[in-house]
Amino acid sequence: MWRSMEMSIYEIWNEVDLYMNDKLIQPDPILDEVLKANQEAELPAIDVSPSQGKFLHLLASLKGAKRILEIGTLGGYSTIWLARALPKDGQLITLELSAHHAEVARANLKRAGVNHLVEVIVGPGLDTLAVLKDRGTDPFDLIFIDADKPNNPNYLKWALELSKRGSLIICDNVVRQGHVVNSESEDENVKGIRQFMNALAQEKRISATAIQTVGSKGYDGFIVGIVE
Ligand code: SAH
Ligand code: DHB
Ligand code: MG
Repeated sequence: MWRSMEMSIYEIWNEVDLYMNDKLIQPDPILDEVLKANQEAELPAIDVSPSQGKFLHLLASLKGAKRILEIGTLGGYSTIWLARALPKDGQLITLELSAHHAEVARANLKRAGVNHLVEVIVGPGLDTLAVLKDRGTDPFDLIFIDADKPNNPNYLKWALELSKRGSLIICDNVVRQGHVVNSESEDENVKGIRQFMNALAQEKRISATAIQTVGSKGYDGFIVGIVE
C-alpha cells in the first residue's frame, strides 16, 4: 500500500530502490549468497547497492572495458558486477588491505564463476599501486576507487598514472549524506573526499560529473570521469 504521508524520505527512497530493482534487475541467487557470506564473515555491509552495482556494470559494458582496476574489494560484491562486464580475455585487479576481506572475496568470486578473470591483491592500496607500476602493468580502461577515503586524493593521482586517454575513473561515496559540502567537517572521510574534489577541480586531464544517488544506502553519490 502507498502510504507516503507516513513514510520518511529515507523509507521512500528505499521503497523506490526496491521497486526499480524488481523491475530492472534479474533475481540473482549468487549475489544473494555473496551478501549472506559477507554477513556470516562479519564484513561491514557497505557494498554498493544492487542498483549501483548494475550502474557500474553498465558503465563497464558501455566502455567495452577489458582491464579494470578496483581499489577496495570488501567481499567482492562490486567486483562481481564489474567482472561480469568483461570479455573472456578481460582482467580485473582488485586491491584490499584486509586479508580476511580478501579471503571472503576470493570465495565469492569463485561462487560467481569470475575468479579466473580477477586477481585480488592484499596490502595497503598505495603500496600495491606502486608494485603494479613497477610490474609495468598495462593501462586500465576503468578504475573504481572505493577504499579508505582519506587516501582518495592519492588514489586519484594513481588512477591518472595507470590509465590512458578514454579511461573511466569512478569514485564511490562522494556525497556522504550531504556532508561533502561541509567545509568545517572534522571527519577524515569527508576531508578525503573534499581533497579529492579539489584535486579533480584542478585536474585538466579529467572531465567529470557527479551522480547523486538515493536508495537503500541513503544519500550518496559517484564521481564519473573520463581521462582526456
Ligand atoms: N567495493 C566494495 C566495497 C569496499 S569497502 C563493494 O562495493 O562491494 C572498502 C574496502 O576498502 C574495505 O574492505 C577495506 O578493508 C578496504 N581498505 C581500507 N583501507 C584500505 C587500503 N589502505 N588499501 C586497500 N583497501 C583498503
Ligand atoms: C563506507 C565505505 C563505503 O565504501 C561505502 O560505500 C559506504 C560506507 C564507510 O566506510 O562508512
Ligand atoms: Mg563505497
